[in-house]
Amino acid sequence: MNIDKIGTAKWAALRKDLERRKQSDFDWENGKVALYNYKVDEGLDLAIREAYQIYFGENALGRRAFPSIAQLEDEVIDFGLDLFNCPDGGAGIFTSGGTESIIIAVKAARAWARANKPDVKNPMIVAPETAHPSFNKAAYLLDMTVVRVPMRDDFRAAVDAMRSALTPDTVMVVGSAPSYSHGVFDDIEGLADLAQQYELWCHVDACLGGFLAPFARKLGYEIPPFDFAVPGVTSLSADLHKYGYAPKGASLSLYRTEEFKDCAKFTFNEWPRGVYTTYTLSGTRPGGAVAGAWAALRYLGDDGYVAAAKTVMETRDALVAGIEAIPALRVHRPYDLGVFIFGSTDDQVDINAVMECMRERGWFVGSTAKPIAIHYSVNPIHAQSVDAYLSDLESSVDEVRRTNRKAAFDDDTYS
Ligand SMILES: Cc1ncc(COP(=O)(O)O)c(C=O)c1O
Repeated sequence: MNIDKIGTAKWAALRKDLERRKQSDFDWENGKVALYNYKVDEGLDLAIREAYQIYFGENALGRRAFPSIAQLEDEVIDFGLDLFNCPDGGAGIFTSGGTESIIIAVKAARAWARANKPDVKNPMIVAPETAHPSFNKAAYLLDMTVVRVPMRDDFRAAVDAMRSALTPDTVMVVGSAPSYSHGVFDDIEGLADLAQQYELWCHVDACLGGFLAPFARKLGYEIPPFDFAVPGVTSLSADLHKYGYAPKGASLSLYRTEEFKDCAKFTFNEWPRGVYTTYTLSGTRPGGAVAGAWAALRYLGDDGYVAAAKTVMETRDALVAGIEAIPALRVHRPYDLGVFIFGSTDDQVDINAVMECMRERGWFVGSTAKPIAIHYSVNPIHAQSVDAYLSDLESSVDEVRRTNRKAAFDDDTYS
């Protein structure tokens, strides 16, 4: 046996092992997972896999060694700046995901405050309680404080209460467009106005819906103003690896001006190797993630994103109608985009027990803790499984009611 053959045989065995291990996972490709995965169709899947592979070995840190990656990255950033109505002079950073996009925006806000608000001793972020946990992760890493203000009854940020929470140490206000837990947009105009009045940095977390909202708007869905078109918005995060349908490891952290982006820069010039500068938390970055994101944007283009948005919104509406046709279930309102939640109106039907029954039927179902509800984050792949989901949901509700089953666990764990 030559080396090639040994190598091939080795890989064949390993591949088998991976495929066997994967069988214990929920079947997302057939729509059985209500979060985590975003897929349009096989054509796009092939394109982004191949694009990733073409740049499999390249390191996006090496902008001079791999100018083609730098160019792809710049084109992706320009697409984002344009999509989110950034005026001329805006700038952006390609990151590994929403969490990193948010952490570096918080880091930038802190650096900006250090330069512009010298009296601030303990820099503080004021956020609605619905803001993603990554703001707290950022604050933890950067030695800052987050004050989380209770949401309104409609799950949106309580802007007036956030105003009351401001202190002389506040440097940043944030809002979601939309939030992950409830899928609603905060009043970004109100928050940006607050930021302008008190000279604060305003970050919009559009990680979840950034690459869906503008296209849903084109279809006639009412999407509130949320991007750089709103005066006072300083930075915005939007994940390519969610509704941008890019391979995982791709997000944008965007800034109204180059100067704001520069606040995210890390430079170290006391290293024997020379000056080291990055805008991201990581040094080495996968070239494949950049090429995959670029391929998704170019493959789909505006028309492809509008078509995907149509599928998402129509699938959402079909799910909502089907869920509300099941006695005992109620979809919470409002919901603004691809995420909605539903709970039980019947004391005999414990919604967490319904969730357990669904998992036993092969569906990985998300949940929210406040209110206790089942969470659905719709993507195009779910269009194929609407009927099967609703049928298993109905039988799960029946089983819970018949057996008076209570949940064995209180699952509000995200991961
Ligand atoms: C609104 C929002 N912000 C931030 C994030 C964090 O993104 P990531 O998991 O890519 O780090 C998410 C993830 O779901 C999100 O929904």
